[in-house]
Amino acid sequence: MEGASMTFTPLLNRTDDTPLYHQLYEYIKKEIVSGNIKVNNKLPSIRSFAEYLNVSRNTVDTAYQQLLAEGYVESRPKSGLYVTNTQFDLLQTYKKPAVFLHPQLETKSCTYDFRYGKIDSRLFPLNEWKKRYNESLQTYREALFTYQESQGEESLREEIAMYLYQSRGVVCSKHQIIIGAGTQQSLSLLAQMLKPSIRDIAFENPCYDGASFVFKQHGFSLKPVSLNNTGINIQELYESQAQAVYVTPSHQFPYGMIMPVSKRIQLLEWANDCSGFIIEDDYDGEFRYKGSPIPSLQSLDSKGRVIYTGTFSKSFMPSLRISYLVLPEVLLKTYYERFSLYEQTVPALHQRTLGLMMKNGEWSKHLRRVRTAYQLKHSTLLAALQKEFNKNVTLSGESAGLHILVRMNNDMNEQELINTARKQDVSVYGTSRYWLTELPQQKPYILLGFGSLRGEEIEEGIKRLKKAWL
Ligand SMILES: Cc1ncc(COP(=O)(O)O)c(C=O)c1O
Repeated sequence: MEGASMTFTPLLNRTDDTPLYHQLYEYIKKEIVSGNIKVNNKLPSIRSFAEYLNVSRNTVDTAYQQLLAEGYVESRPKSGLYVTNTQFDLLQTYKKPAVFLHPQLETKSCTYDFRYGKIDSRLFPLNEWKKRYNESLQTYREALFTYQESQGEESLREEIAMYLYQSRGVVCSKHQIIIGAGTQQSLSLLAQMLKPSIRDIAFENPCYDGASFVFKQHGFSLKPVSLNNTGINIQELYESQAQAVYVTPSHQFPYGMIMPVSKRIQLLEWANDCSGFIIEDDYDGEFRYKGSPIPSLQSLDSKGRVIYTGTFSKSFMPSLRISYLVLPEVLLKTYYERFSLYEQTVPALHQRTLGLMMKNGEWSKHLRRVRTAYQLKHSTLLAALQKEFNKNVTLSGESAGLHILVRMNNDMNEQELINTARKQDVSVYGTSRYWLTELPQQKPYILLGFGSLRGEEIEEGIKRLKKAWL
């Protein structure tokens, strides 16, 4: 049965920025959805409603047209507009914004923050970056208005290939490099490439949780392999029956041991024996403080079993999100066949800017500068630890990178060490999260990142830690 035309009185605000027709449309829609105007009810005629509301006919007509277009009302010939027979109660009229509390809400960091992952902003070559950024904008105008090659900007890949060869001994061409928005994105792509032929992947235990997490999310079975003072235990690796292994040979994360060449050769033999892959994460290979830099594992690999990954997060700027994968030939084929449809995720502008800096020597100048600066911070940290703690501290991983581990000669557990440091306005970080298995019964190691702190802050921070811990 068709209902009679009804009258209703919307409150229209003539001083509001929202046009009258829109206010009217919103009002009628709300009334229909809430059931105040029933199915089959007829809307008032344009003329009478316009007179009643003292608005122009055009205003009513525009509101009605919108309701008609969206299907709230229908036009019945020679009769008028009627509310359609729709289950409006299924429409949610009031949506609450989701309130989601992140389970790991960060506590505010202290004045002396030994956070790993933070680097020194004062060392960033801002002027050079701005100059090359402008140059990229001007020179590459047209190319910036289209999609880029899925592997990333050729000019940057060319520079990375050259840089990796000179500094890390990595032998590769630009064709083997895939630019990614950070190591996890790179590993995520790799995980997809390794599936379905590989299901079990071995990890150093403990290891960088950001990497193990990615493979876990992709459904791999993680095989924890223990460490000794030269890195991963090769015997256990064989026993794990994994077909791939993720390692950090230049500076094991988090312990910091450096894998000697003899162990590297054994690891390559393992990969050859089982036709497996080694994922070499060379995240901070630029920073080695004792002896000369050790060439990458990739540089020793003659059978194409090593997948090399690196990042600009430690050496340049973590928020830039630029990383890279160097694929061996066998995987390149997989990439082209199955993944080259993925669009590149790092802005071309940033890639080109970085490429220009590398090409013009500004990158190597920057690297020399940061190496010297971090070396100084590193020795300040070691000297401060020696001075304040002397024999009461054991260090791990003190030959490279932007962090070290310390183990205290006291009875505090990890949380107590963190909490007591906090009371002295010092943030330090635990290492228990990096274990893939249950924590071993041993005194905890605490991670001290020193990248962002000034020398005086490092010294003061360690003094305060002495008050907290001894
Ligand atoms: C072992 C390891 N790899 C990679 C990264 C970071 O990589 P990205 O900033 O490219 O995600 C880190 C940083 O904490 C790390 O510890």
